Amino acid sequence: MRQVLNLEFAQREHIPTTIYTSSDQACARVADAICELITARKAAGKPAVLGLATGSTPVRLYRELIRRHREEGLSFANVIIFNLDEYYGLIPEHPQSYRRFMQEQLFNLVDLKPENCHLPDGDVPREDVLASCHAYEEAITEAGGIDIQILGIGRTGHIGFNEPGSTPDSRTRLITLDSLTRRDAARDFLGEKNVPRHAITMGVATILNARKIFLLAWGEAKAEVIAQAVEGQQTEAIPASFLQKHPDCVFCIDEAAASHLTRVRHPWLVGMVEWSPAMIRKAVLWLSRKTGKPLLKLIEEDYSENGMADLLTEKGSAYELNIEMFNTAQHTITGWPGGKPNADDSHRPERAKPFPKRSLILSPEPLDDIYCMGGTLHRLVNQNNDVTVAYLTSGNLAVPDSEARRVIELMLELGEKRESADDLKFARLLDRKLREKGDFGDDPAEIRQLKGLIRRTESRSSARLLDTDSKRLRFLDLPFYENGRYRSFQPDESDVERLIELLREIRPHQIFATGFGNDPLSVPGLCFEILRSALAASQSEPWVNDCHIWLYRGPGMEWETHEIDMAVPLSPDEFENKIQGIYQHQTQRNQSPNLGKDGDGNTWNLASKFNRATASAYDALGLAEYEAIEAFKRLDINR
Ligand code: F6R
Repeated sequence: MRQVLNLEFAQREHIPTTIYTSSDQACARVADAICELITARKAAGKPAVLGLATGSTPVRLYRELIRRHREEGLSFANVIIFNLDEYYGLIPEHPQSYRRFMQEQLFNLVDLKPENCHLPDGDVPREDVLASCHAYEEAITEAGGIDIQILGIGRTGHIGFNEPGSTPDSRTRLITLDSLTRRDAARDFLGEKNVPRHAITMGVATILNARKIFLLAWGEAKAEVIAQAVEGQQTEAIPASFLQKHPDCVFCIDEAAASHLTRVRHPWLVGMVEWSPAMIRKAVLWLSRKTGKPLLKLIEEDYSENGMADLLTEKGSAYELNIEMFNTAQHTITGWPGGKPNADDSHRPERAKPFPKRSLILSPEPLDDIYCMGGTLHRLVNQNNDVTVAYLTSGNLAVPDSEARRVIELMLELGEKRESADDLKFARLLDRKLREKGDFGDDPAEIRQLKGLIRRTESRSSARLLDTDSKRLRFLDLPFYENGRYRSFQPDESDVERLIELLREIRPHQIFATGFGNDPLSVPGLCFEILRSALAASQSEPWVNDCHIWLYRGPGMEWETHEIDMAVPLSPDEFENKIQGIYQHQTQRNQSPNLGKDGDGNTWNLASKFNRATASAYDALGLAEYEAIEAFKRLDINR
């Protein structure tokens, strides 16, 4: 973005798109627009009509509106809300119903009148659905139409729940959810099978009728679909692309969500760029991919035919540039992620001294560590580094009741066999608590504790396969997670303090972390912000100046080749061992959308897909061919 010297990219983008450095900045801008509307309408003695969305994306916007209500006197007394959608078949009290979401995230926290808060009725009998959808459309018209519509976007390109295939003239109706959408919701419902198959959503035409539209998107996971909606043709395959028709629609997105826009991804294709070393690397590696040629076989025509003639003018010949890029990529490869003792380290990603290193691996939840960097972790341990794995959260929210039930049954039976009154008493208490909460209740503290302990046992078994002593595992159980639920987490100083204490105790030479570029409200995204704050607070500690931070990508994502500063190859045996380690996390078989599915519907094997893809990408550049590669990017702490 910053490197683009003109606005030629505007020709490619069919929707005005503003890129913000943080989602909070974007939310502040949208909140300003909402405040102006509410104030202007109030002065005119009229209501303001807002169309709202659920999901992770608008949560920070709602928090900002609540803040303005509490601290700046913003009143919602003249506001009418129409929400986009509701799962079909869920009663309003269901923990995952959008009605409940809105009550908890906004409606109950400002002075909205209950009669002004509308959502499609997800509980209406099948035969009344059509009439109910008509009534919803009519209610919007009667209210004067929607003034400002807030949208998120699904990875399928859906807006509201208008899945691919939705037409621009569609209206409020019952739809079938796409399998990717159901997978993305699997975590909330503790398993894909529990996610409703249908929903009622405003149509694309209903959305396009709004006078002003803001679409918000955060995190890398949305980058591809954002680029398709903004730069692609209008198509039913990406319903968000129909927003190109709207005269007053703005996409407000963060840098990670913008990362696939041509102006960010391939800026040399849309204008003049400043050829910084990072930009050169990005462009040349892209050229190799695009032409299907290894780096050392690129010729002058390849450069000039792909918008990079000026780079050659600046750098001399293709020959020299190819060699330089080949060497840079080659030097990212190392079998010594903790540095190779007594070796010349002038071209190695990690320094040789000190050795052994105190390596700290931060895993937002149990499983992230092995899933994303199990092979590297194994090497660090076997190469005698002083490794600590810290699980920042317990991960207890991702354990289905059925898994807790199994353990409780075991405890009950053991208690009976041993005739131990105390053991039995406790097992019965757990049994009762689990039954009492039923399908819709939140887990009481005892059940959350049990679920957290189940995940600890899984982490220990997986660590055993990596020769990691369980004494090296630390379970921080950060309070923001223990006291919260998905989408309601609110980290504070106590979380940061806990991490600062650990950092002080370990004084790491290297930290492996993740969450950079994630949805800021996701567990990895929040953990990354906590790490940032902890590092900022530790700036005066001597160890900080001698600490390298290596970022790994969370499950379901991987660095692109030009972003990789350290590539750790895995042999077939090491790779198999890692996969076995992942299998120890039995409770996670169906939980996380990002674990993904292979062709057989298994949720485990995406790790192998990603690590193998990185190895193939290196191979295609003309570098050595490995079975799999785990990739890391070095973080400049001051960025
Ligand atoms: C929610 C809605 C959906 C979401 C989209 C993104 O009311 O209509 O279109 O906006 O699925 O969800 P998150 O924000 O959870 O990534």
